[in-house]
Amino acid sequence: MAAVIAVIAVRVAWADDPLPVPGVAPQPQIVGGQAAAPAEWPWQVAIVVSGSTPAEGQFCGGSLITADWVVTAAHCVTAGNGAPLPTSVYYVQAGITTLSANTGAASNVVSAVVHPDFDSVTLDNDIALLRLSAPAALGGSVGLIVPLTPAFSTLAAPGATATVLGWGLLSEGGSLSDVLQEVEAPVVSNIACNAAGVLNGAVTSNMLCAGVLDSGGLDACQGDSGGPLVVPDGQGGWRLAGIVSWGIGCALPQRPGVYTRVSQYTGFITAHAGIFGGDLSVTKTATPDPVPAGGSLTYTLTVTNSGASSTSVVLTDVMPQGVVVASAIATQGSCNPGATTVCNLGTLSANASTTVTIETTLATTTAGVISNQATVAASSTDPVSSNNAATATTTVQSAKQVPGLTFWGLLALASLLVACLARRSITRRTEMTTQ
Ligand code: ARG
Repeated sequence: MAAVIAVIAVRVAWADDPLPVPGVAPQPQIVGGQAAAPAEWPWQVAIVVSGSTPAEGQFCGGSLITADWVVTAAHCVTAGNGAPLPTSVYYVQAGITTLSANTGAASNVVSAVVHPDFDSVTLDNDIALLRLSAPAALGGSVGLIVPLTPAFSTLAAPGATATVLGWGLLSEGGSLSDVLQEVEAPVVSNIACNAAGVLNGAVTSNMLCAGVLDSGGLDACQGDSGGPLVVPDGQGGWRLAGIVSWGIGCALPQRPGVYTRVSQYTGFITAHAGIFGGDLSVTKTATPDPVPAGGSLTYTLTVTNSGASSTSVVLTDVMPQGVVVASAIATQGSCNPGATTVCNLGTLSANASTTVTIETTLATTTAGVISNQATVAASSTDPVSSNNAATATTTVQSAKQVPGLTFWGLLALASLLVACLARRSITRRTEMTTQ
């Protein structure tokens, strides 16, 4: 029974090429890659047919995004009609680079969350989350990757160099690659990927393409499905930008590989795995508006965590020129007022808000419209941090102070007036006498 389902699972996982192009022969082997070093990509997991070793039964890849959630392709864990396979027919092996070495730890899957809009024909929304029966032991060769969020989607802009990982087939109808392969391929724009003669409109906005359009040569292939396409995060780490989904043949010119565009699924991932604790926003209310120059302005910044888990929050408020911060008081945590006010707000729970009240004084020379910008940065207390950030800008109309009529100023004006009138009457009198 299990064996039968297992065969189905394997066959389904490899059932590629939803849009075969006549005359284009598939080349089922990972192309242009090289062997990965052990522990180089610690979030990579193998999805394996139950009752077999990783070397015997690996059929898809996946990525650990928390200690107990793996993200993979929906088509890896569903039957041809899109219905989920029983989770008992496969398991997840983390901490493995060489399948035959059988290193790492196997975990059973307690539930598979297939995207509700997964389309098994077009492969739109090809994403599923697997919940492990127990959290993986993190450290060494087992680690996590942060899914790419819309705020960071430029990391996977067309032309960015992405890395694809997997144990895909080494020869047509042959055996799986024993050692994890890594392939670098540039991201191709959806427009170029969808062009006539390329993928002819089959690429939805939920998909991302990678490969070398003109010459081919760098691609994932059958058996790599569900595995990661990662991009550098610019800080020495990586983000999960894609999930190996489909292709026409492998590494052919004009046939880029197609991946699930992970940044489209922040909501889906949050709803189940809840890792985007730092889903922050900040709003600001200011009074009075306009504020007179030399007057004081009080404004309140409200930081909201609409993520699914608690997160620690640091708020930074950059003051415009001429603004002196009198005080900054946080309802939780503490602030250090200055030209840039920094408040350490501590931990903010999921779906909670907190406020910071700032009192400022405007320099008398300040006039016109001034604005200041507050940014909040968060680091999630979850094992995966999405380091989210948000900004709010308030524009405050500042009325320029009219030059004041001081006592001495009035006196000077008055004496000028008196002197002037006196001169006029003298002149007139002189004129009268000469006439
Ligand atoms: N559907 C394939 C699998 O299940 C992945 C195909 C990827 N093909 C490609 N040329 N990038 O393994």
